[in-house]
Amino acid sequence: AALKTYQFDIQVKNVSRLCHAKPIVTVNGRFPGPTVYVREGDRVQINVTNHAQYNVSIHWHGLKQYRNGWADGPAYITQCPIQTGSSYVYDFNVTGQRGTLWWHAHILWLRATVYGAIVILPQQGTPFPFPKPEREEVILLGEWWHADVEKLVNKANQLGSPPNKSDAHTINGKPGPLFPCSEKHTFVMEVEQGKTYLLRIINSALNDELFFGIAGHSMTVVEVDAVYTKSFTTQALLIAPGQTTNVLVHANQIPGRYFMAARPFMDVQLPVDNNTATGILEYKGIPNTVLPTLPHLPKSNDSAFAFRYNKRLRSLNSPQFPTNVPLQVDRNLFYTIGLARNSCPACLNGTRLMASLNNISFTMPETALLQAHYFNVKGVFKTDFPDQPPKPFNYTGAPLTANLKTTIGTRLSKIAFNSTVELVLQDTNLLSVESHPFHLHGYNFFVVGTGIGNFDPGKDAPKYNLIDPPERNTVGVPTGGWTAIRFRADNPGVWFLHCHLEIHTGWGLKTAFVVEDGPGADQGILPPPKDLPKC
Ligand code: C2O
Repeated sequence: AALKTYQFDIQVKNVSRLCHAKPIVTVNGRFPGPTVYVREGDRVQINVTNHAQYNVSIHWHGLKQYRNGWADGPAYITQCPIQTGSSYVYDFNVTGQRGTLWWHAHILWLRATVYGAIVILPQQGTPFPFPKPEREEVILLGEWWHADVEKLVNKANQLGSPPNKSDAHTINGKPGPLFPCSEKHTFVMEVEQGKTYLLRIINSALNDELFFGIAGHSMTVVEVDAVYTKSFTTQALLIAPGQTTNVLVHANQIPGRYFMAARPFMDVQLPVDNNTATGILEYKGIPNTVLPTLPHLPKSNDSAFAFRYNKRLRSLNSPQFPTNVPLQVDRNLFYTIGLARNSCPACLNGTRLMASLNNISFTMPETALLQAHYFNVKGVFKTDFPDQPPKPFNYTGAPLTANLKTTIGTRLSKIAFNSTVELVLQDTNLLSVESHPFHLHGYNFFVVGTGIGNFDPGKDAPKYNLIDPPERNTVGVPTGGWTAIRFRADNPGVWFLHCHLEIHTGWGLKTAFVVEDGPGADQGILPPPKDLPKC
């Protein structure tokens, strides 16, 4: 184990894309930001200094931060933001995890440009459970707007109006040659025939699940969300915002130039596909005048592909990397996902879009919840979040008004230390054309089941996969369907649970778990660092 230190300077820089230059917030003037390379077992200290006129905080997405929510990063959940002119050191251990994760700003929509990869190499002497690749490459998928993203989010949050769609998707910050003025802004990966490469693919887009593929080449999935999987081969993969997927690509085609492409999965047929990001897989020695070919990706509304793809994901579950899914459950939670124009007083008389869990739309506090919890400050949040929706109804049937009486509040759920939790997330039919990728901070969880329609415990629970379910930190809840996850609440703290479509988070599709301290001296939240930002 070693100590790895990084300096992150938050600074504004002019960047030009799609024929326009605009100032964006960056880390160290780079877009996307620097990759954090560490090894399993390392201690990491990242000093973030804010030189920009925006408050910031950084989240290390997927790192468990055992007993150490102080380093988790979501603004007003675990910390107050780092203000202009101040610094904060994120100090954490990388224990029991290896693979691809990522970091991003966790305040408003700043993560549109403030994001980068985290690569955790396995411990020395512990090889990958798959053939050693010739080289590895980080592939960050993202979105680009002409407009100032912070202005867009304010408009979206105040009016509850859908945001402008982004103007391009990007691969490593570059839209690729199908967009104007983007010849230079094209990600090119050089390969040699006969060799195998590891791609660490991250969806850092704000609001779109994406299909990704490479013309003429299949991909072998070996890991999701920094957990090894049973390997399987596919022409296209589906990746939701927040998720990561490692694939092996064998350069076994006629030497040439092949497009890699990313475009949205939406559950609706997009009129024209003018938003596809492309990069190029280029065999060594091929002149760059040779035109590449495009991959065949599923149609934007191919939910059957999405469903099949997700069903193929299985944890490795080997003696070395076992799958410890809880077999018995101490606490059953059932949360409905609602998204509608509401008639509540806070909803501008039904003109504002609100998003809710169990009819509760989450309001951000003005001070950080973790501090309020640790120092026992009263009046910041309540722990009365209901385990079930107020009244069961036909969640995915004919339109009902049962879910329209949304209330607002900073309401959390208290979870006993080390208890086993099952959470079923149920989509409702109120207004949804997209699946919701839910992310839980502080934990990995096991995706034991998913289905279309209303969750039926008597019928669906017996069909759970309790052998090798995928273990991850972000999972899609299908449109008009449900997803069941399980985890053991062994990490004390306040842990954010939210939809990773940033537009929905802003509308209130979020809550948090307060996991209580355990009885042991080493089972409680660690004391806060001295430089923890103040509100
Ligand atoms: Cu990747 Cu709460 O976020």
